[in-house]
Amino acid sequence: MTDPIRFLLGRKPVEVSGVAPTTTVLEWLRGDGGRCGTKEGCAEGDCGACTVVLVERGADGALQSRSVNSCIQFLPTLDGKQLLTVEDLKAADGALHPVQAAMVETHGAQCGFCTPGFVMTLYHLHRTYTGKLPPSRETLDRALGGNLCRCTGYRPILEAGAKMFDTPASPDPRDANVANLLAAFKHDHGFVYEAGGRKFFAPSNLAELALVLAANPEARLLSGGTDLGLEVTKAQRDFPVLVSLNEIAELKRIARTATHLELGAGLTWTQAMAPLVTTFPALDELLARFAGPPVRNAGTIGGNIANASPIGDSPPMFLALDAELELFGTKGARILKLADFFLDYRKTALTPGEIVAGVRVPLPRAETKLAAYKVSKRFDDDISAVCGVFALDLDGDVVKAARLAYGGMAAIPKRAAKAEAALIGKKWTLDAANAAGAAIAQDFAPLSDMRASAEYRAKVAANLIARFWHETAGTAATRVVRYG
Ligand SMILES: Cc1cc2nc3c(=O)[nH]c(=O)nc-3n(C[C@H](O)[C@H](O)[C@H](O)COP(=O)(O)OP(=O)(O)OC[C@H]3O[C@@H](n4cnc5c(N)ncnc54)[C@H](O)[C@@H]3O)c2cc1C
Ligand code: FES
Ligand code: FES
Repeated sequence: MTDPIRFLLGRKPVEVSGVAPTTTVLEWLRGDGGRCGTKEGCAEGDCGACTVVLVERGADGALQSRSVNSCIQFLPTLDGKQLLTVEDLKAADGALHPVQAAMVETHGAQCGFCTPGFVMTLYHLHRTYTGKLPPSRETLDRALGGNLCRCTGYRPILEAGAKMFDTPASPDPRDANVANLLAAFKHDHGFVYEAGGRKFFAPSNLAELALVLAANPEARLLSGGTDLGLEVTKAQRDFPVLVSLNEIAELKRIARTATHLELGAGLTWTQAMAPLVTTFPALDELLARFAGPPVRNAGTIGGNIANASPIGDSPPMFLALDAELELFGTKGARILKLADFFLDYRKTALTPGEIVAGVRVPLPRAETKLAAYKVSKRFDDDISAVCGVFALDLDGDVVKAARLAYGGMAAIPKRAAKAEAALIGKKWTLDAANAAGAAIAQDFAPLSDMRASAEYRAKVAANLIARFWHETAGTAATRVVRYG
C-alpha cells in the first residue's frame, strides 16, 4: 500500500504522488508547486536563500514551527505538515507582513535574491520570539546565522529584524483551522510512499522500524537530511529505499537520570541545545556555531554521529564527555561506548539494520573543567578546521583524568591519548599544558585541505590546550568565569 504525500501548502491541503522521493521541497515548489518566491542559491544548505517554515503537531498536539532549508529536504518529509513560503505572508487584504514592511522601510534588499530566505527566517523569529523586546543584537545575529547576503550588507537586515517587532506577532485568523487540518492527515500506520520504483518509509515507532529494516536491508536511513540531502543535490546519488526516522517519538526523548543526561538520536540540534547547554554551559558557543538555525532545525544528533565525519562537531564533544550510544536494530538494542564507535574513515561499529537511537552523557562532576573550541574560517555557519573539546578532572590542582578529543585531526574523531597521558598525575600548570600540546605531534598527523594546512592544524591543536589552561587556571584576566 502506498500513500500520497499530504500537506498544507500555505493554508491549502495538497496531495502529491508520482514524484521521486528524493525530489527536494525546493524543486517541487519552483516546479509543480508553482511558487518561485523561494530561491535556490547553493543547493547545499549553506546560503539560506531557500528558507521555508514548517509547522507540525508536537507530541501534545500543539503546533510547533521551524525554519529549514528547502533545498535539502525531501518532499515526502512534508507529509502531515504545513509548508509556509514567502508567498504566504501577506495578509488577506494584501497588506505586507510586519517583517516584509520592515525590510522595505530599512532598505533591506538590493538584488533581492537572498531576500525571501531572510524574510522567512525573520518571520519565524517574529512568530516564535518570547524574550525581551527589542531583541538583542546577539539574538538577531544568532537567528540570521544561516542566511547569507552578498550585496545589501547585514546592517539594514538587522535593523529590519528589530523594527518588525514594532508590530507584535498576532495569530492570523486564516491559521485557526491549521491544527485540525494537520490532525486529519494523521496515519493509523507508518507512512509509505512509492514512485518510479523508489520507496520512502516513515515508520511511527521503533517496532515498525525494525520490520521495515528487516524487509529492506538495502535501505538508507534518513534523519534531518542535512548531510544526506547533499548526496542527492551535489553528488546526484540515487536511493532506491529511504527510511525516515523523523516520525519515531522514541527517538526524541530527553531524560535526566541520577547519573546521565539521555538524548534521543532524533532530536534536532535546536532541540538538543537547551538540555546540553543547561547541563554543560561551556558548550554554548560550540553549539551556537554548529551550522546555522535552518540546518540545526533539521539536522539531528544521531545523523551527526552516524555520519562519522572526521570534521563533525558533536563527536569530539561527546567523546570528551565520555558518552555512550544506545543502538537499536533488527537484532535488538545494545549500549556502546562512543570511543568504540568510530572504526575508520566514515566506518562505524553499526551493524546492518542498526541505528543510533540515543546518547547517554554522564552528568558533570564538580571537579571537572570543560571547554569546547571550534576553529573555522567564518564564525557563523562554517565547518570546523579543528574542533577541540577538553574535559579535565582535577584533585586540587592535580590532573586525575583527562579527555582531550579532536575533530579535523585524523580520519576519525579521536581522543589525544599521548597528550592526555602527559597530563595525568601532573599539576595543571602552563608547563603541563605545553607538554600535552607537544605530545599532540605523536597523537596526530593531520591532513592539509581547503580548510587548513597540516601545520596549522597541528599548531592550533596544541595551542588550544594552552588556551584551556589560561582560561581555567591562568591569571584573573585570562580566566573565563563560565568554566568555574
Ligand atoms: C550548511 C551546513 C552546515 C553544517 N554545519 C555543520 C557544523 O557546523 N558542524 C557539524 O558537525 N556538522 C555540520 N553540518 C552537517 C550536518 O548538519 C550534521 O552532520 C547533522 O547533524 C546531520 O544530521 P541529519 O539528521 O541531517 O543526518 P542525515 O543527513 O539525515 O543523515 C546523515 C547520515 O547518517 C545516517 N543516519 C541518520 N540518522 C541516523 C541514525 N539515527 N542512525 C544511524 N544512521 C543514521 C544517514 O543514513 C546518513 O548516512 C552542516 C551541514 C550543512 C548542510
Ligand atoms: S539554496 Fe542555499 S541553503 Fe538552500
Ligand atoms: S540582496 Fe543581493 S544577495 Fe542579498
